[in-house]
Amino acid sequence: MTVTVLSNENPRPGAADLRVRVDASAQRPRAGQFAHIACGDALLLRRPISLCDCDEEAGVWRFVFEYKGPGTRYLAARKPGDTLDLLGPLGRGFTCEPEGPPTLLAGGGIGVPPLLLAARRLTGAAHAVLGFRAAPLAVLTDELASLCARTAFCSDDGSLGTREFTDAVVRRLLAETAYARVLACGPRPMLRAVAEAARAAGVPCEVSLEERMACGVGACLACACRVGREAGETFRRVCLDGPVFDAETVVW
Ligand SMILES: Cc1cc2nc3c(=O)[nH]c(=O)nc-3n(C[C@H](O)[C@H](O)[C@H](O)COP(=O)(O)OP(=O)(O)OC[C@H]3O[C@@H](n4cnc5c(N)ncnc54)[C@H](O)[C@@H]3O)c2cc1C
Ligand code: FES
Repeated sequence: MTVTVLSNENPRPGAADLRVRVDASAQRPRAGQFAHIACGDALLLRRPISLCDCDEEAGVWRFVFEYKGPGTRYLAARKPGDTLDLLGPLGRGFTCEPEGPPTLLAGGGIGVPPLLLAARRLTGAAHAVLGFRAAPLAVLTDELASLCARTAFCSDDGSLGTREFTDAVVRRLLAETAYARVLACGPRPMLRAVAEAARAAGVPCEVSLEERMACGVGACLACACRVGREAGETFRRVCLDGPVFDAETVVW
């Protein structure tokens, strides 16, 4: 679909906060789903970016991303009134059940944005652990704190919250509170450590995986990742079968 840029801001150097107007017919996104966005005529492949937030009434979708290469730099340079060609929402999202015990959100770095939509869908029934390398790299901290009943921050250098890794805080909270599940997004080593902590506590865990993508809709197999169960290992497409997977099925 063609969407119109409403605003494009810099929450911090190297990151963009893009809001677009979508059609009234656009599907309601689930937290953890992504949009596959065309990045100008010079780039053949679209770039996948997670839905960070959405306002269904106003028809607004929001993306928060780091600009690293030509695709994300193109998106960061769009101005209000520009149009973008976007496919979505795509993929399998997180389980967000507001009833019952709270859900623990675990985010690392630029993995934090999809957790904002998860916190919104959980309508207050979420606690969050947000880890960053350092305070100047943090994003969405105030907004997540306002949507979650409890929020803990940590950083590698101690400049934001406690000086420790996200999984260490997750381990502590899992020992204190009975959570329905853990939803995690961030760098792969963090996801693996959070999944191990959840497994040790006997709490279900879902992780959002990142792979480079081409088609984004399950047709090309560019994004295959290994998953396994008792029956043995197999491959799944991150774009269609994920990006959110039951952590127990991921072959780390
Ligand atoms: C499902 C999904 C959701 C995503 N959501 C977000 C998001 O909300 N915010 C955000 O900042 N980023 C997100 N990403 C990562 C984002 O898609 C990449 O940063 C982007 O495609 C890079 O394109 P580029 O042209 O700017 O850089 P490129 O020149 O293509 O790459 C620049 C650097 O980023 C690495 N990279 C490229 N694509 C990926 C990828 N898919 N996964 C991991 N590393 C990659 C490359 O190895 C290279 O080091 C997501 C990725 C996936 C798969
Ligand atoms: S990107 Fe083509 S199958 Fe996933």
